[in-house]
Amino acid sequence: MQKKNPKRIGLAIVGAGRIGLQRGEIAARYPQVDWIGIADIDPARAKLVAEKLNADFYTTDYRELLKRPEATAALISTVGHLHVEPTLAALENPNKLALLIEKPIANELAQSEMVLNTIRAAGNDALIGYTQRFRRRWMVAKDRVASGGLGDISTVSSRAFLNRLVALNNYKRDSDPKLNSPMVISGTHALDIVMWMMEGKTPVELWARSTDKALGPLCKGTDATVGTMVFSDGTLYNSVVSWALPISWPGAVYGLEVGVVGADGVMTIDDTHRDFVLAASQAQGMGYVADGSRLVDFVGSTPAGDMALGALRGPLHEETQSWLMRLSMGVATPHATAEEGHHRLMLAKAYDLSARLKKSVALPITPQDELRTS
Ligand SMILES: NC(=O)c1ccc[n+]([C@@H]2O[C@H](COP(=O)([O-])OP(=O)(O)OC[C@H]3O[C@@H](n4cnc5c(N)ncnc54)[C@H](O)[C@@H]3O)[C@@H](O)[C@H]2O)c1
Repeated sequence: MQKKNPKRIGLAIVGAGRIGLQRGEIAARYPQVDWIGIADIDPARAKLVAEKLNADFYTTDYRELLKRPEATAALISTVGHLHVEPTLAALENPNKLALLIEKPIANELAQSEMVLNTIRAAGNDALIGYTQRFRRRWMVAKDRVASGGLGDISTVSSRAFLNRLVALNNYKRDSDPKLNSPMVISGTHALDIVMWMMEGKTPVELWARSTDKALGPLCKGTDATVGTMVFSDGTLYNSVVSWALPISWPGAVYGLEVGVVGADGVMTIDDTHRDFVLAASQAQGMGYVADGSRLVDFVGSTPAGDMALGALRGPLHEETQSWLMRLSMGVATPHATAEEGHHRLMLAKAYDLSARLKKSVALPITPQDELRTS
C-alpha cells in the first residue's frame, strides 16, 4: 500500500481554453493543489479562467509562467499544433515539472522525436492526454487481453465514426490540410486504444487509403482513412476512421466499435453511445459546437465527458484526477507515456503516408519518410 504522505502540487496551465479550464476546475478542487498559474495568449481568457479557478498567477507569456518556482507540474493544453514550444520551456524549470501534454506531442514526426529525446534526456515524468483510456470499458478490455483470457490475439478491428462538426471545426480553425489529418487528430484515439491492447506486439507493415468525397468539395478536407496493419507475429488490425458523418448523425463527436479475436476467445466492445438517446423538438445546443439542426443526440459521445450537476463527469475527470494522485501519492496510473504518444503519431503519419503514396509502407516510418512523395 502507498504511504499516505502526499506531496504538494503547484500546477501551471498553458492554454486556458476549453480543456485547460476543464482540467483546471478539477485541479482547483484537489486538496494537494495549493498553487495554480495560468498562461493564455488571449489576455481576457487568461483573466477569466484565473478568476474562475481562483488562480494565484496569470499571464499571457507561457515562459514567464513556466519559470515560476511554485510550479511542480504543467498542463500543456494549447491547440493541437502548438504544444512543442511550451513543452520545451516547461522542461527548463529546475523543479523537473511533471507534464501532461494534450495529444499530439507535435504535428510533425521530426519535432515529436526531438521533444521525446529532450524529455528522455531531462528525465521528467511526461504523459500524453489519451483520455479515452480512462473509460472503464477500455481499461477492462486492456486488462482482459493482458491477462491472457483470449489467448494469443490474431485479429483486431476498429471503427471510429465522428460527426463532421469535429472536422469542420478543425478545418475552420486552420485550413492547412497537413494540420488536419483525421488520423492525427481523431483516429489516434482509436489507434491508441488498440495499440495499448496490443502492447508487446510489433507492427511491421501498413496499407491505407483515404477518401474526400464529402469534405473535399466543402473545405478541401479528408473524409476518412481506412487501413490494415500487419504485426511481426502475423496479427492483423483493420481500422476505419471517418470524420465525415452528417451533422444530423446523433453521435455528437466520437463513436467507436472494437473487436478483438484471440485463439481462445473474442471480445466486442460497443462505445457508440447508442444506449442513451436524447431527442428534443427544439435545439438544445447539442453537439461539438452548438448546431440548431441537431435534435437527437447519443449522450456520452463527447470524449472528455459530459457536464452534469455543475461539473464535468467522465474520462477527462478520471484522467486528470488520476494524474493528480500520481503526482501527490506516487500511485501507478494507466496514462499514455511520451514514448507511446510519439509512437501513435508515427503510426498516424504512416496511415497518411500510405494513403498518399497509394502503397504499403514498412513500419516504423522515419521523419524523412513523412516527407516522401514517391
Ligand atoms: N483530452 C481530451 O479529451 C481532449 C478533448 C478535446 C481537445 N483536446 C486537446 O486539448 C488541446 C486544447 O483544445 P481546446 O479544445 O481546449 O482548444 P481551445 O482553442 O479551446 O483552447 C486553446 C487555448 O490555447 C490558447 N493558446 C494558443 N496559443 C497559446 C500560447 N502560445 N500560449 C498560451 N496560450 C495559447 C488559446 O488562446 C486558447 O485559449 C488540443 O491539443 C486538443 O487536441 C483534448
